[in-house]
Amino acid sequence: MEITTKGIDEFVVNVLSEVGRSLIIDTTKNKLVDTKKNRNDLVTNFDKSTEQFVVSMIKEAYPEATIVSEEGFGDDVQSMDGLVFFVDPIDGTMNFVKRGDDFASMIGVYLDGEPFIGGIIDVMRKKIFHGGPNYGIFCDNEKINLPENKALIDGLIDISAPMALNNYLNTQEVVKNSSGLRVYGSAGIIFEHLLLGKEVMYMSYLAPWDLAAGRVLCEGAGLRVASVDDTPVNMLKSQVVIAGTQNVVSEVLKTVKNCD
Ligand code: IPD
Ligand code: CA
Ligand code: CA
Repeated sequence: MEITTKGIDEFVVNVLSEVGRSLIIDTTKNKLVDTKKNRNDLVTNFDKSTEQFVVSMIKEAYPEATIVSEEGFGDDVQSMDGLVFFVDPIDGTMNFVKRGDDFASMIGVYLDGEPFIGGIIDVMRKKIFHGGPNYGIFCDNEKINLPENKALIDGLIDISAPMALNNYLNTQEVVKNSSGLRVYGSAGIIFEHLLLGKEVMYMSYLAPWDLAAGRVLCEGAGLRVASVDDTPVNMLKSQVVIAGTQNVVSEVLKTVKNCD
């Protein structure tokens, strides 16, 4: 298929709609739950079946693309050349298993290393955030109002629980200088909050599939996504990432840099 922003955006929205419909039904079914790196790193049969479905749709529509995905059904991608899809079939698997809400499914698309199109479905709210830097950012069919460039003192922030609890890189100072800390447990749901201006910053250690779609959407919405040492974000490795308004990310980068 020809590569156009509109074509890829429509493809991503169609695939995520299908994924959302089936995951809503899956929340009502018994799940086979397994652990990966530790007892709180969960994977279910639905993470695997969803990823298999998304990967097969991509391979059929864009056979020339390469796929970075969480559960192992994608490719061993070593280069960002050409069209690269990042797939997180269920983001917030712990929420999916324990609460049945606040989980997402995400597809990020990059062309020759540049953010191209991103899609995040908030499954239980049935909302799809999608689009890209040269296309516009939408919630379903409506363009979103771009988030204000708020300061840290004026907004809620989300930092992964282990980082905040251990004061990793001075994060407790960042929390003190904000309106307060929230921990939602799904990168996709937090990116949604950033896009809607409900939170002003997210800091976490993220794998490529956790970050890819959110980065495209945030940058397309005028937000900033930075690595913790402010070097260019490498989409093929896991790293600590700070995403948020331009004002907040600059302020947080100064605070984490001053950490001894
Ligand atoms: C996780 C969630 C969580 C974040 C973790 C991710 P998963 O994704 O986004 O909020 O703190 O780093 O791994 O494993 O549920 O897809
Ligand atoms: Ca994830
Ligand atoms: Ca996942």
